[in-house]
Amino acid sequence: MLIRSPQDWELPESAATPERDYDLRSLGRREFLKTAGLGLATAALAGRPAFATTAGFPTKVNPDYRDAALKPTAYELITSYNNFYEFGTDKADPKPNANKGWKTEPWTVEITGLVRNPAKIDANDLVAKMGGAEQRVYRFRCVEAWSMVIPWDGFPLAKLIAWADPKPEAKFVTFTTVLDPKNIPGQRRGTLEWPYLEALRLDESNHELAFMATGIYGRPIPNQNGAPLRLVVPWKYGFKCGKSIVKINFVAKQPRNTWNVMAADEYGFYANVNPTVDHPRWSQASERVIGGGGLLGTRQKTLMFNGYEKQCAALYKGMDLRKYY
Ligand code: MTE
Repeated sequence: MLIRSPQDWELPESAATPERDYDLRSLGRREFLKTAGLGLATAALAGRPAFATTAGFPTKVNPDYRDAALKPTAYELITSYNNFYEFGTDKADPKPNANKGWKTEPWTVEITGLVRNPAKIDANDLVAKMGGAEQRVYRFRCVEAWSMVIPWDGFPLAKLIAWADPKPEAKFVTFTTVLDPKNIPGQRRGTLEWPYLEALRLDESNHELAFMATGIYGRPIPNQNGAPLRLVVPWKYGFKCGKSIVKINFVAKQPRNTWNVMAADEYGFYANVNPTVDHPRWSQASERVIGGGGLLGTRQKTLMFNGYEKQCAALYKGMDLRKYY
C-alpha cells in the first residue's frame, strides 16, 4: 500500500469540515475559542463604516446581485478567517501578518499579453477607468468545505477585458499575485510555488458574475483579503480567486495554476463547485457556514455551481462535469 507523507503545502484533512455537524467535540479547542471570540466581537461591530479613502468609495449597491435570501457573514469573520498562504497557513495568520508593514498602496497592475491595449496602471486609476465600484453580495465556497456570504465592492471583470481589447488568439486569462519575499514572509518559504497564479478561460472571465473586488462591506479591501485588487469567481472554489493581483495576462493556451501544480490529483483547472464530485480526501456534498446560525456555524447542502447554475452551466456545455479537470 502506498503511504503518502503530507507535504508542507498540503491542506490537512482537518482543514476540511467533516460531514457530520460541528459540535463542541468535533471543533478543535483553538478553533472553538477563536469562533466564540469572533462571534462576540461581531456583536460589537454595529452599522456601516464611514470612511472612503480609496477610489470608488462609497460604492452603490447593485440590486441585481443582492439576493434577499442571502445573509451576509459578519465583517469581522470575513476579515479574520482567511486563506492567504503568503502570510501563513493558519486561518488566523493573514490578518496580523499582512498588516505588519506590507504596503498595498500605491499599487501598479500590468495588463499584458494578447491584447490591443496593454497597460501598466495604478490600481486607483484603474477603478476610476472602470467607472468606479459597485457592491454585489455573492456566496463564497472554499474547497475545504466552508462557506460565507460576502458583500464585495468592485467592478465586473468584463469591463477590464473590454478595455484591454483581447486579440482573437487570446483564449485564457492569468491572474498573478504580487511577488515580494522581502515583505511577504510566506514567500521566503517553499509552501507553494510563488507567485500564486490563477487563471480562467476568456469566456469565463467575461461572464457577468466574474468580479474584481476592491472592497468588502463598502470599505477598501483589507490586506488579508487581497488588497487592493482580487479576483472573485463565485461559482468556483475559492482558490481560483487570486489575491493582490499585479498582472493580468491574456494567453492562447491553458496555463498552469498554482494548486494544480502543487497537487494535480486534488485541484483541477476548472474547480467549479460541484457537490456530486468529492475531493479525493473529503466530501463536497455539504459545507460549514462560517458564523451561521450560532457560534459554531451550521451546515448546509452545497449547491451545484455554488447556487449559480442557471447563470453558469452554459459555459460548460458538452463537458463531463464529473471529470476532474
Ligand atoms: N490567493 C493567494 N495569493 N494566496 C492564497 O493562499 N488562497 C485562496 C484564495 N486566493 C490564496 C489566494 C483560497 S484557498 C481561498 S478559499 C480564498 O483565497 C480565501 O479568500 P478569503 O481569505 O478572502 O476568504
